[in-house]
Amino acid sequence: MKTFKQSSLLKKDSQTNRKLELNYRRAKHTDHSPDLDKLAEEFNYENCRHSYWNPVEFSLLYGTPLWEQSTASQKVLLNQLYWVAYYSQIISAEIATIFFNQTSATGLYSLEGFRLICDTLDLETRQERSHINCFRTVIDEVEKTLFGKRLFSYPMRSPFRETMIFANTNQFKNWWKKIQLYSFGLISAGNPFLACQYLTVRGIRTLNGKLVQHKLSQFHTNNTEDSPIPAQISYYHFLDESFHFNTSTILSHDVISCLQPPTPFERQITNLGIWGCQKDHYHVSVAVNGIFWYDPALYFTIYQVLRSPFFGLSVEEAKAMLTACFTQETDGLHRSFKTHDEAIASYQLYLNSLDFISASNKEMKLMASNSIPRYLKTQRKALDRFFKQQELTVN
Ligand SMILES: [Fe+2]
Ligand SMILES: [Fe+2]
Repeated sequence: MKTFKQSSLLKKDSQTNRKLELNYRRAKHTDHSPDLDKLAEEFNYENCRHSYWNPVEFSLLYGTPLWEQSTASQKVLLNQLYWVAYYSQIISAEIATIFFNQTSATGLYSLEGFRLICDTLDLETRQERSHINCFRTVIDEVEKTLFGKRLFSYPMRSPFRETMIFANTNQFKNWWKKIQLYSFGLISAGNPFLACQYLTVRGIRTLNGKLVQHKLSQFHTNNTEDSPIPAQISYYHFLDESFHFNTSTILSHDVISCLQPPTPFERQITNLGIWGCQKDHYHVSVAVNGIFWYDPALYFTIYQVLRSPFFGLSVEEAKAMLTACFTQETDGLHRSFKTHDEAIASYQLYLNSLDFISASNKEMKLMASNSIPRYLKTQRKALDRFFKQQELTVN
């Protein structure tokens, strides 16, 4: 019989509901997207062109021979290019977030009494658009001024692509990824359990972001007097994102226990999603510590930086520098692997209490199987192939 008395799985007076209310109220109250919109409007590269934007160790190829041989002004440039590269990746992740926040909200809105979660996800979606605008404003101006073309960035793109902008991919893998993303979007929009599982994946990805963004944000808190606009952007963005992380955690750890236990199919899709996350986060980049890019996909970009007037290397010098930076065991490589290890430990902790996650995902087996010797072996082969295939004459 259809009655008017339908009770919600999410009880109004439950602890989970209280957590959700508090998180939403605070996120709305402290929403930093207006600050970020303002910073984007005020940004002028000339005003901060000669200063560091991040703590010094967050510089492109920090701890490699390139860093050691760079002049003071080249080091400033590498520091700024880290910001450009890092947030180019964040834009891609946030484009995907905008779409999947909405499919998850759709999946959960089919249940009685779940509006609060949907309103929270709406707020976060709107904030991501502001974040993206802010990052793009800075990145576009910097790349245009310095190189007259895009190096790390890309034109606006769809969410149905590899989230990693420098990935180990090809046409077939890109196509397959697109099919997977389309399918997950459709299925999760009609399945509350899987809608919550997007938030498990989002939680893992945000954990990775938090590891680095917390440190980037400290550059502003330690230099509030004269911190450049990009450092302020890192700071305000980090504040918004800490609420997003809370939302991911409440949905994937608390709300999930209000729902029916997963069916074998739901378990399988969930574990495939986490496995996909492990695949995405398997690689380690010596160029950008904290972003798990596949470095061979980055060689040509770095080559163009080395050949630009700011470094002025000849073709042969640039090739020697690529070899020195990517195929040797450097302090930079150790630092990047340290961040990778920290990410693995934090993901393991995050998934530990979820009983529907498989052992190989809980242990982050795939991610943990990468190592410095493996990295170097891959680079030596790939760089050799790169030198043979590329016509390296770009100015
Ligand atoms: Fe964001
Ligand atoms: Fe976010």
